[in-house]
Amino acid sequence: MTPVPKTGCYLEGLSGLTSLSATTTCLDPQAAYRRLWETWGPVAPVELGPGIPVWLVMGYREIRSVVRDELHYSRNSSNWRLIADGHIGPESGLAPIMFPRDNAYFSDGDKHRRLRAPLVAGLAGLREQHMAQVIRETCARLIERMPDEGPIDLVALYAAQVPMLTVAGLFGIAPELGDRLQACVIGLFGSGEDSAERFGEMETIVAGVISEHRTAPAEDLTTAFLNHPGHRDDGEVLASMLLMLGAGWETLQVWIAQTLRIMLTDPRFEARVRGGHLGIDDALDHVLWADPPMANQPTRWAVADTVLGGQRIARGDALILGLAAANSDSWVGGHDRRDSGNRAHLAFGVGPHACPAQRASRLIARIAVETALHRLPDARLAVPASEIPLRPSPWTRGPEHLLVTATRARF
Ligand code: HEM
Repeated sequence: MTPVPKTGCYLEGLSGLTSLSATTTCLDPQAAYRRLWETWGPVAPVELGPGIPVWLVMGYREIRSVVRDELHYSRNSSNWRLIADGHIGPESGLAPIMFPRDNAYFSDGDKHRRLRAPLVAGLAGLREQHMAQVIRETCARLIERMPDEGPIDLVALYAAQVPMLTVAGLFGIAPELGDRLQACVIGLFGSGEDSAERFGEMETIVAGVISEHRTAPAEDLTTAFLNHPGHRDDGEVLASMLLMLGAGWETLQVWIAQTLRIMLTDPRFEARVRGGHLGIDDALDHVLWADPPMANQPTRWAVADTVLGGQRIARGDALILGLAAANSDSWVGGHDRRDSGNRAHLAFGVGPHACPAQRASRLIARIAVETALHRLPDARLAVPASEIPLRPSPWTRGPEHLLVTATRARF
C-alpha cells in the first residue's frame, strides 16, 4: 500500500470542530446542519472523534457528484490517511464501520460491479409473496413474545429484532440462529470492545449456513449467492452474506422505530395514517425525507487532491455523506415535497453504491409498522415525548428506547 502523505492536509490543521454526533443527538438536527452550512458552505469539516477530522458533505449536488466520481473518491478505506499511518487499527471502535473488508461495500470499479451483481440478482429473484409471509410471521412472533404486563420497549423488543430476523429468514437461516446473529450484531456495532469476537462468531454461524446449503440447496438468498458467477468462492459468498446481514440491521431498525415514534408523538400524523389519509408507504417516505435512518452515511476517501463545494480536499481525507442535511437542501425544494409520493430523497444513497435492498427493506418496514398498528392498536407512550432518548451514534438518528403501554390484539 502506498503511504498517503500527511503534509499539506488542510483538514488536519483545523481545530475546535463540531462533533459529527452533535448532528444526530441534538433536538433540531436541521438547525445544526444549517449552522455548519452557514459557517463552511455545503462541505464542512467536523470531528468524528477526538483527533479524527472528516468532511461532512451536505449539499445534494455535492453528494451526487462525489458518489459518481470514482476517480477522485474511493470506497476503499485503505485510502484513509489515518488507517494508512496506523492511527486507526482493527481494534478501534470504528473498525466495524471503517476497516476495509473484501466485499462490494468497500470496493470500487469493476470489482465492485462484480461483487454487487449477486446482491442485486439475489434480491431481484426473491418472490414478494413468500418474502411478505416470512416478514409477517416474524413480526407476529415478536409481538406474541412481548410481556403481558408493564411497559414494552418497542425498540428493543420489536424494531431492533425485525431486521435481523427477517433478513436472516431471506437467507434461509432458522429463527434460533437469527437470534444468535442478532446478539452478535449488537456486540459488533455496540461498544466495540468485543466486536472482533462477535464478528468471529457471526462468521462461524454463516459459514455453517453456507455448508448446509451446499449439500441441501433451497429457494433462498444463500443458494442464489452460491450459484451466482460473480462470487468466485465460498469466502466471497460469506463476505456478501455478512455485509447484507450487517447493512440492513441498523438502518431498518431506525426506520421502523422513527416511524412508530412519529405515530406515537404526533396525534395528527397518527390519525392521518389510521384514517387512511396517509398510506403507510407515504408515512415511511415522510421519515426518509425528514429523518433518514442513515443521517450521515460513511464514507468516501479522496484518492487525489481536489476541490469540492469550495473546500480543498486532500488525498487521504475522509468524506461523510450528510444525507439528512441534503434532503433539506433548498436546491431540492425545501420541506414541501414530503408526503407527496416524491422519492427524490437521498435516504438510500445514490450512484453505483446506492442501497440494493430498497424493495426488500420497504416491504419489511411496511409490514413491521402495519403489524404493530394492527396488533397493538391502543399503544400509547409510557413516558413524555421529550424523554425519549436518542441513539448515541454519529451515523443514525433514532430513538434508543420507545416505551409504550399496549394490549395485544389477538387474531
Ligand atoms: C434489508 C435491509 C437492507 C440491506 C440488506 C441493505 C444492504 C445494503 C448494501 C449491501 C449496501 C452496499 C451496496 C454497495 O456498496 O454496492 C447498502 C448501501 C446503502 N444502504 Fe442499504 N440495506 C438495507 C436497508 C437499508 C435501509 C432501510 C436504508 C435507509 C433507508 C439503507 C440505506 C443505505 C445507504 C444510504 C447505502 C449507501 C449508499 C452509499 O454509500 O452511496 N439501507 N445497503
